[in-house]
Amino acid sequence: MNTAAEALLGTSKKNTLGKLLHDTVELPDGLLAHISTARLNGNTLIERETTIARRGAPAAIVDCMITPIAARNKPGSIELLIEIFDIDRQNRIANEQQLLEQQQQSQTLLRSLAHEILNPLGGIRGAAQLLEQETQDSDLRDYTQLIIGEADRLKDLLGRVLGPHSPLQMKPHNVHDIIEHVTRLLLSSTPQINYHNDYDPSIPDFICDRERMIQVLINIVVNSIKALKQVEQAAITIRTRVENNFTIRNKLIKLVCRIQIVDNGPGVDPNISESLFYPLVTASEGGTGLGLSIAQSLVIQHGGLIDCQSVPGNTVFTITLPLQETEGAPRRHGEST
Ligand SMILES: Nc1ncnc2c1ncn2[C@@H]1O[C@H](COP(=O)(O)OP(=O)(O)O)[C@@H](O)[C@H]1O
Ligand SMILES: [Mg+2]
Repeated sequence: MNTAAEALLGTSKKNTLGKLLHDTVELPDGLLAHISTARLNGNTLIERETTIARRGAPAAIVDCMITPIAARNKPGSIELLIEIFDIDRQNRIANEQQLLEQQQQSQTLLRSLAHEILNPLGGIRGAAQLLEQETQDSDLRDYTQLIIGEADRLKDLLGRVLGPHSPLQMKPHNVHDIIEHVTRLLLSSTPQINYHNDYDPSIPDFICDRERMIQVLINIVVNSIKALKQVEQAAITIRTRVENNFTIRNKLIKLVCRIQIVDNGPGVDPNISESLFYPLVTASEGGTGLGLSIAQSLVIQHGGLIDCQSVPGNTVFTITLPLQETEGAPRRHGEST
C-alpha cells in the first residue's frame, strides 16, 4: 500500500499488513466479487465508478483495476495488484482549473475597465469642485455635491475591484486568533445568530498576510449573516482542520489548513451558484458582487482556494490554504494510487 492509497483509504500500511482485506477496508460487494474472480481465473478486471466508504471522510468514487501477477516467492500462486484511480479528485482538479481560468479572465477584464473609468472620474470630480467654487446658489451646490459624492462612491468601488496593491506582509499567525478577531468584530453584535466554533488545536501557525486573511473571512461571514436574516434559530459554525496530502490546483500539498464557514440559511441561489466567485455576480439587493471575488483573489495570492457547497439549510464555504508544500513535480491527472 503506497502513501496515496493510505491517504485515500484513511488507513496505513502498518494497520493493514498481514490482515484480511475485508477486515481492513470497506470495499463494495461488487469489487470484492471481482477480486475473487481475478484470483481464480487470472484475468485482469476493471470496475468503474465504484464507491469506497472511508472512515472519517466522505466516500470516494473510484475506478479500480485488478491485475493478477505471479507471486514472486510462492511459485504457482497468484498475487493481485489493485490500482485505485480517484476520479472524484480528478474531476475536482479539472473543475478547479476551469474555475480559476475563467476567474482570472474576468478579473483581468474588470481591472482594465476599472483603470479606464478611474482616470476620467478624477476629471469629473475635479470639474464639479470647480463649479461648486464658482456658484453661490445653494440649489446648484446640491447638484455639485451629488456629483462629488457619487464620484467618490464609484472611486471607492473601483478601488475595491482593483484590490490592495501593497506587497503581502507574510508572517506566521495563529489561524484561530484571526478567526476570533473576525467573529468578535461581526458576531458579537448579532445575538440572534448562534455561533459555534469547532477548532482543530493541532494547526500550526501559518504564514500569511493577517489583514488580508481577515478581509477574506469578513467577506464570507458577512454574506452568511445576510443570508440568515429571515432564518429562525440561525447558526454559524466555523470549523478548522488540518489535512494531509491535499491537491490544490493540480499540486499535491503535504499539509493544508481548511477553514469552513457553515450557515443554516436558505443556501446559494442556484442561478448564480456556477459563477459565485466571479466579480459583479450578486443575488442580494444592494450587493456589489465583489465580496467573494476579492476573497478568492486574496486566497489565491496565498496559494490556496475557496470553494462552496450549498443546499438549503447548509451552506459551506471552505478555504483551503497550504501549510507545507511537497517538493517535486506536480501530480499528473490519472495517476493511480
Ligand atoms: N452564505 C451564503 N448563503 C447564501 N447565498 C450566499 C452566501 N454567500 C454568498 N451568497 C450569494 O453570493 C452572492 C455574491 O456574494 P458577494 O460576492 O459577497 O457579493 P454581494 O454580497 O455584494 O452580493 C450574494 O449576493 C449571495 O446571493
Ligand atoms: Mg458580500
